[in-house]
Amino acid sequence: MNNTDSAPSTSGRAVVVTGGASGIGKAIAEAFTANGDRVAVLDRFGVDSIAVDVSDEASVKAAFAAARMQLGRIDILVNSAGLLTESRLEDMTLAMWNETISVDLTGVFLCCREVVAEMRQQKWGRIINIASQLAIKGGTGLSHYSAAKAGVVGLTKALALETAGDNVLVNSIAPGPIETPLVDGISEDWKAAKRKELPLGRFGTTAEVAPTALLLASDPGGNLFVGQTLGPNSGDVMP
Ligand SMILES: NC(=O)c1ccc[n+]([C@@H]2O[C@H](COP(=O)([O-])OP(=O)(O)OC[C@H]3O[C@@H](n4cnc5c(N)ncnc54)[C@H](O)[C@@H]3O)[C@@H](O)[C@H]2O)c1
Repeated sequence: MNNTDSAPSTSGRAVVVTGGASGIGKAIAEAFTANGDRVAVLDRFGVDSIAVDVSDEASVKAAFAAARMQLGRIDILVNSAGLLTESRLEDMTLAMWNETISVDLTGVFLCCREVVAEMRQQKWGRIINIASQLAIKGGTGLSHYSAAKAGVVGLTKALALETAGDNVLVNSIAPGPIETPLVDGISEDWKAAKRKELPLGRFGTTAEVAPTALLLASDPGGNLFVGQTLGPNSGDVMP
């Protein structure tokens, strides 16, 4: 049973997934589709995607207009679009810093802003932001990425406070290392050292992250999560 009269049923919901053409976002989009929900994928690339650059305000507005045309409404937003580059802070250019903050943090702000008013009016909505466990523990060569992801966790909490009264629940997922194209570029030495650090001794798969998004979006299962950061992270961080 749903927790309010305005809640959509537990399938057939309208879902937007940014970054849904690859990796974690793709697995989440597939999991919602398998659940019987209707999914619009927004991504820079991807044949079945609505084109978007999440760091560009006009592009985000146009893409959400297209998603609304496709879906009719938006019940659930998953922000998974993101990029990762590496540089020690002392060598980092301002351009590299700005690119990461623009995509990984400002992109989440812009996409959330597109859906909040509508979800409040519906008196039902779920926003799930993909952060990272590096928001909590930091990472060498990843000051820009760690700062952006810590920003996502903070944004999630603040927005959750603003919207919970209208039954719009905002949470984040902070995965540990997951086998996706994002981590393909990292050196094998780093990956081997990282595996040794993990209590589980291995990276996760996207299929092991997607169910966390389904849980947060579920009704009643997700109804008590407000501003939380869930960590499918192989034990990398125990907050
Ligand atoms: N893979 C990991 O180990 C890991 C761990 C923690 C968090 N994350 C986060 O999970 C999310 C998904 O990452 P992934 O590992 O699936 O990577 P991925 O590279 O497989 O997927 C990222 C997707 O985002 C899209 N994207 C990038 N920049 C974009 C932009 N400006 N506008 C629109 N789309 C854009 C890409 O085209 C791609 O489809 C990211 O936010 C990432 O930071 C990943």
